[in-house]
Amino acid sequence: MIRYAIGTILIIGITALVGCDWMPGRPTVPQDDRGNPSSVHGFAPLWSVNCQGCHGETGMWGPARPLNDPLYQSLVTDEWLNKTIANGIPGTLMPPHSVDNGGWITDSQIEELVSGMRTAWRGTPPPYAASSPAIINWKKLKANATAGRTVFNTYCSPCHGENGVGAMAGSPIDSAFLALASDQMLRATIVCGRPDVGMPDWQGNLNGKPVPERAGLAPLSDQQVTDVLAWITSHRVTYPGQPYPAGGNTSPGFRGDD
Ligand code: HEC
Ligand code: HEC
Repeated sequence: MIRYAIGTILIIGITALVGCDWMPGRPTVPQDDRGNPSSVHGFAPLWSVNCQGCHGETGMWGPARPLNDPLYQSLVTDEWLNKTIANGIPGTLMPPHSVDNGGWITDSQIEELVSGMRTAWRGTPPPYAASSPAIINWKKLKANATAGRTVFNTYCSPCHGENGVGAMAGSPIDSAFLALASDQMLRATIVCGRPDVGMPDWQGNLNGKPVPERAGLAPLSDQQVTDVLAWITSHRVTYPGQPYPAGGNTSPGFRGDD
């Protein structure tokens, strides 16, 4: 009896102390001050919340292409960056970010990201940037995949292996890789390289220095870039990743259909 009485007094006491409208987990400050995506401002916070997971903390060394790259920045327009961030790149892992497209950030935050990237990462592009093959609005030349294979086995095979099977660098014709990469991404990679991970640009330079694997070779022409891209993408398949390993997936933790 006494126990019930003590219990009742405790419950009444606690209710009196905390008030009736408090529930565990209920926010105590307005949601706007607690990380609402539209209240994040400034290039660094916007970048770290929305982009760095894929494009790297400093705009490089992420799984997706470095944007902290003066050659790349010199070849794209503000409008291109704006559109890419707002709409994403359909069919790839680059998500749409604008509220209109189901994302989290407003048009003015997208503007902040674009101008932040331009200020922080435009740097000094190499002198040949002005004559680089285009990486936007580039679908002009007629592509020849057979000629592209010869380009590959001259310019790319020292690092990516004869016929692209992979060597010091991975295989750019791997069907699973191609399933994740758009033509756009491949073209930008061939023209700008990936200065963070060791892939030279169309001139054969890596961070301002010629790579020995491209010694004696002229810069890639627009036609060669177009052709090698066509050869690489001719390896796209309907069911990427096959054939599956004989005997099925034996990885620990994999649950088959059996
Ligand atoms: C989930 C991973 C992911 C996130 C998050 C992400 N990106 Fe991307 N991004 C990618 C991938 C992958 C590509 C290349 C897609 C393709 O074309 O194959 C890409 C491509 C791009 C390109 C185009 C490159 C070109 O070819 O011109 C830009 C610009 C870009 N991202 C900017 C951003 C910005 C800015 C943010 C943050 C607001 C962001 N990305 C967030 C994965 C991501
Ligand atoms: C000096 C060596 C070297 C040469 C020459 C070279 N690459 Fe690369 N490439 C790399 C390295 C290193 C990477 C990054 C590591 C990896 O993907 O295995 C890379 C990555 C790539 C990627 C994937 C990029 C990404 O973001 O995942 C593609 C596509 C590619 N190279 C295509 C080419 C093509 C096409 C050529 C010829 C025009 C070429 N490479 C020439 C070294 C080279």
